[in-house]
Amino acid sequence: MLLPQRLNYFAFSSVMDSRHHALAVVFLAFFMQAVVEASSWWSLAMNPLLIPEAYIIGAQPLCGQLVGLSQGQKKLCQLYQDHMQYIGEGAKTGIKECQYQFRHRRWNCSTVDNSSVFGRVMQIGSRETAFTYAISAAGVVNAVSRACREGDLSSCGCSRAARPKDLPRDWLWGGCGDNLNYGYRFSKEFVDAREREKTYQKGSYESARVFMNLHNNEAGRRTVSDLAHVSCKCHGVSGSCSLKTCWLQLADFRKVGDALKEKYDSAASMKLNPRGKLVQVNSKFNAPTNHDLIYIDQSPDYCVSNESTGSLGTTGRLCNKTSEGMDGCELMCCGRGYDQYKAQVVERCHCKFHWCCYVKCRRCTKTVDQFVCK
Ligand SMILES: *[C@@H]1O[C@H](CO)[C@@H](O)[C@H](O)[C@H]1NC(C)=O
Ligand SMILES: *[C@@H]1O[C@H](CO)[C@@H](O)[C@H](O)[C@H]1NC(C)=O
Ligand SMILES: *[C@@H]1O[C@H](CO)[C@@H](O)[C@H](O)[C@H]1NC(C)=O
Ligand SMILES: *[C@@H]1O[C@H](CO)[C@@H](O)[C@H](O)[C@H]1NC(C)=O
Repeated sequence: MLLPQRLNYFAFSSVMDSRHHALAVVFLAFFMQAVVEASSWWSLAMNPLLIPEAYIIGAQPLCGQLVGLSQGQKKLCQLYQDHMQYIGEGAKTGIKECQYQFRHRRWNCSTVDNSSVFGRVMQIGSRETAFTYAISAAGVVNAVSRACREGDLSSCGCSRAARPKDLPRDWLWGGCGDNLNYGYRFSKEFVDAREREKTYQKGSYESARVFMNLHNNEAGRRTVSDLAHVSCKCHGVSGSCSLKTCWLQLADFRKVGDALKEKYDSAASMKLNPRGKLVQVNSKFNAPTNHDLIYIDQSPDYCVSNESTGSLGTTGRLCNKTSEGMDGCELMCCGRGYDQYKAQVVERCHCKFHWCCYVKCRRCTKTVDQFVCK
């Protein structure tokens, strides 16, 4: 739906003299694995400073202090300071949804600290990494589009998307809609900036990762865009609905998470061809579109903790004794077995409906069996 071209008013150029540049390349070649992914704009999701006032008062210095921003992202931060809070919120929404979608999986999208956020596992170009990039890019489109509609940003307002052709003639178009067009463009500019600034050699692993990340960021944004729909409200004498006003509405983010989870399950395995382009490993399958997820590495072993891959392992995870799925103790604990505990859980109970209209409950403690992976 209505994906625009990149607009140049978000564009900026980063100037670097060539000597500096050559040094940077050497430095990067050595430290690529260790340093480059060590922190990311995702850390905005963990940053408690993200209140609008902080940007107005702290202005320029704050953008420089935010950890995890690339040079280009810092520039965008300075130009669009009021957007930063929503980028942080978008990342947070994405991370929360990732944790919900993967709550029953060995890799559960857990965050490890405030700067690297997901830890070293993101250095592997796996399906899980693909999902994480896509859902956080999607979260930013969602948050910025909504913020425009709410009037929270100085440079955008309600959606000005064209009236859909199939909207009945007597329905009004022009309720204040989510500004998907702006949200898409801004988040593409901001989120992709990091990848576009990377230096890499043609045919290198780093180049494959840049293509992969950009592809999955786009897939995340398009998923939000594909699920946006027209929403309408009735007017007219006492609910007669003789008049309708309609606008563009983003889908509930859970739907975006569900859709991306399906794309995760059918993600395409890719490799570099001799000309330095990413192609599908199994050429019999349809080529992935820019709505699909792609990955270039096999997933690490998420069963045992491993410092070099960043896997946390499943020791200590709760599992379900009777389930045969991924959340079942057999699969979750990778055959290592489990311990059984009695745990107290607090529940709402003895709920009563009161006229009118609320429900009042008490809190009861109950003892349940819990199973925890060895
Ligand atoms: C991350 O930041 C939050 C908020 O400042 C803080 O409460 C938390 O302890 C930090 N966590 C780590 C692992 O540094
Ligand atoms: C950690 O993972 C690496 C890469 O897969 C593997 O070579 C190594 O043996 C693993 N280490 C442990 C302790 O499992
Ligand atoms: C996710 O997995 C990690 C590592 O096993 C664990 O520490 C964490 O509690 C898990 N999070 C949830 C919500 O289960
Ligand atoms: C465990 O799995 C079974 C079978 O899938 C399910 O019916 C049950 O609700 C699950 N229990 C918990 C505590 O999630």
